[in-house]
Amino acid sequence: MDQYQVLGNPIKHSKSPQIHQQFAANTQQDIAYSAQLVAEGDFEHYVKDFFAQGGKGLNITVPFKQQAFAMAKHPSAAASLAQAANTLWCNEKGEICADNTDGVGMVRDITVNLGGELTAKRILILGAGGAVRGVLEPVLGQKPAQLVIANRTVAKAEQLAQAVGHLGQVTACGFANLSGSFDWIINGTAASLSGALPPLPDGLLAPQARTYDMMYSANKTVFSQWAEEQGAISADDGLGMLVEQAAASFTIWRGVQPQTQSLLSWLRQQL
Ligand code: ATR
Repeated sequence: MDQYQVLGNPIKHSKSPQIHQQFAANTQQDIAYSAQLVAEGDFEHYVKDFFAQGGKGLNITVPFKQQAFAMAKHPSAAASLAQAANTLWCNEKGEICADNTDGVGMVRDITVNLGGELTAKRILILGAGGAVRGVLEPVLGQKPAQLVIANRTVAKAEQLAQAVGHLGQVTACGFANLSGSFDWIINGTAASLSGALPPLPDGLLAPQARTYDMMYSANKTVFSQWAEEQGAISADDGLGMLVEQAAASFTIWRGVQPQTQSLLSWLRQQL
């Protein structure tokens, strides 16, 4: 049976085994998928061993995504831009290939599951860490009218804007000097995790604006609460991104695209 794993530290709460086992069942693919805790210094060794023993594919989560990218001989454009990878496999020569499916996962959740449009829209992204870096290439691939990256540490937003400037109209700023109005605000700060909210001025949402929080939780995130108070017509969280990034990995490995709708509803009920 073809072997797949997700590697991280910690890894106990990963939903990836459940998700991939469902995909496999629904597409009649005979695979094994498990979660594996890897010690911080052991990552490279573990990955080499896994593939040497015939393992077919790996998902990579915190804190190993950068190391996974560094190990790849053939990274995708999205992984190269993110400098991080969440999906590894080997080509026929046994060389490691890498992709970062977080961004395509988020874009698919927004445009397919949620029926949203990013093309020709004004988009504000909050945060400039790994989460945001991981989604910029596919977001810019949607050809928004404008993309603003706002971050607490302005220099990090500026670096990121510079790194993707060739892909579209991208500017950077701090929260305090945000101005204008946006059709989409996407939260990629880690603030939600601790129930905090970036200090955002009022009036950032255009009429009919929608928001997306890359985090997910059983209850509305503080960011989504803020968005609804500000008049957003919808404020969605990132559970769909989790499922869609997994579906994109599964498609890379198995060549078939799994259905995600019923799994997404089921996972929502489990939160
Ligand atoms: P990740 O890989 O999850 O993106 P990260 O690289 O540590 O994690 O980045 C965390 C992001 O959340 C950063 O943009 C960080 O802002 P700084 O670059 O200024 O550190 C942002 N962040 C974390 N806590 C925040 C808070 N309380 N308010 C606003 N931004 C916050």
